[in-house]
Amino acid sequence: MSFLLLSFLFLLSLFFFQKFSPSKRNLPPGPIGLPIVGNLHQLGKLLYKSLHNLSLKHGPVMLLRFGVVPVVVLSSKEAAKEVLKTHDLETCSRPKLAGLKLFSYNFKDIGFTQYGEEWREIKKLVGLELFSPKNQKVLKYLKEEESDLLVKKLSNSAQTETLVDLKKALFSFTAGIIFRLAFGHNFHECEFIDMEEVEEMVMELESNVGALAFTDFFPTGLGWLLDRISGQHSRMNKGFSKLTSLFQHVIDDHLKVSQPEEDSDLVSAMLNMVNKPTKTGSLKITSDHLRGVMSDVFLAGVNAGVITMIWTMTELIRHPRVMKKLQEEIRTTLGSSKERIREEDLEKVEYMKLVIKESFRLHPPAPLLLPRQTMSAIKIQGYNIPKNTMIQVSTYAIGRDPQCWNSPEEFIPERFLNTSINYKGQHFEFLPFGAGRRSCPGMALGMTIVELGLLNLLYFFDWSLPDGMKIVDIDMDEVGSLNIAKKVPLELIPILYRF
Ligand code: HEM
Repeated sequence: MSFLLLSFLFLLSLFFFQKFSPSKRNLPPGPIGLPIVGNLHQLGKLLYKSLHNLSLKHGPVMLLRFGVVPVVVLSSKEAAKEVLKTHDLETCSRPKLAGLKLFSYNFKDIGFTQYGEEWREIKKLVGLELFSPKNQKVLKYLKEEESDLLVKKLSNSAQTETLVDLKKALFSFTAGIIFRLAFGHNFHECEFIDMEEVEEMVMELESNVGALAFTDFFPTGLGWLLDRISGQHSRMNKGFSKLTSLFQHVIDDHLKVSQPEEDSDLVSAMLNMVNKPTKTGSLKITSDHLRGVMSDVFLAGVNAGVITMIWTMTELIRHPRVMKKLQEEIRTTLGSSKERIREEDLEKVEYMKLVIKESFRLHPPAPLLLPRQTMSAIKIQGYNIPKNTMIQVSTYAIGRDPQCWNSPEEFIPERFLNTSINYKGQHFEFLPFGAGRRSCPGMALGMTIVELGLLNLLYFFDWSLPDGMKIVDIDMDEVGSLNIAKKVPLELIPILYRF
């Protein structure tokens, strides 16, 4: 009897496996997972690296399960183009993940919110306020002031031949510009928080937002319990209260003093709109919209640029030929009598643009674009992708794909010479800012700051490794979740260049 029952169950499961197996439903291939956990046990600390390794085995369109949630990982330029261009509209929503919900103040921001009318309106409004002509003037002044401060600090270190942690110097430079532009606050002189604390907070919060929460991938009660046992729930909530209290300080400061319109920043402009209809449409701005947008600026605005500058400097130190060629070009083009780098100088130094592109290719700050979610069933590279599937585009894998790049592991800026490849989302082998409806709205601002920061470092200073350290000793380990940074700080000695 039991033999008959076992045979029956075996045949039944065979029938179901054949009927619903990935190949039968023409789903993408992928590694076999375990019941309930899916493929989570095959993922290491650095998600993008695990996904890259798995894709080398299972192909550029790969299906996994994070717990019970289907996730499709795309690792070729063709597959990325189909999602980000051909099917942009059907895939431009975001999954409702717990971390994203918390830090977007219940999906009231731009970056983590689902696609729809509310997202379109808030994005338009922030674009109009943050990048208004008036703000462009403020930005010009902030860039000059922060450049002077950066050069002054580095000159002091050069005089005393002291090691500089470039991350600290560049974070202060970038946050000095972006936070003042958006929040109107000078964190260099702020009483309720200092720049070092802000830096720590950004790092900590980014890893909270990017961490996979069990709640997102396991049936309700189980995920809830696991997040509490693992400490994930309390880590996220602690970070969130710190962020909310910082934002409250900024908001209270704005409410204390009424600002004249010509001095208004993003926060005061949005505060004036809270609970009133906006100029752009029917959306009523609430204080959650305000905090959600502040959260975007805080989490998305600063770190990616700092990471880009650090990786670029790291690669330049590792490649003295490129460093020499670049500094010669910068100093010859800009001449010997500059007291300050200006906006118009950025356009003149062609080779630097190639160097930054090469750095983006090998070290895209976001090695996985922010997750998307399909809003209807689509086909990618001939495979069926059902509705409500989470999509991860691996810019890291595509940037190192030998089908797109010769000697992909080598740092050769000249590979971009005489090509039209740019980072604006039209070339799917190169996507440092993403592409399509969800691409980065801060691209122009981010690039100006990166170019300005690097020009200041490379025009005024030469750079050397600490005594006794050789190029081979430079540690290239990575850390992070949403953005991937250099793990070990890049510490160098600046030497004031005498023309
Ligand atoms: C070098 C600097 C920067 C890099 C490399 C970068 C990169 C990215 C990437 C890869 C995405 C995801 C795109 C996607 O999922 O397709 C993104 C999204 C975003 N970025 Fe940036 N970013 C930078 C600077 C900035 C700045 C300065 C701001 C604003 C002050 C900003 C605000 C945003 C926002 C709001 C989103 C979400 C867009 C959406 O989902 O609709 N970013 N960025």
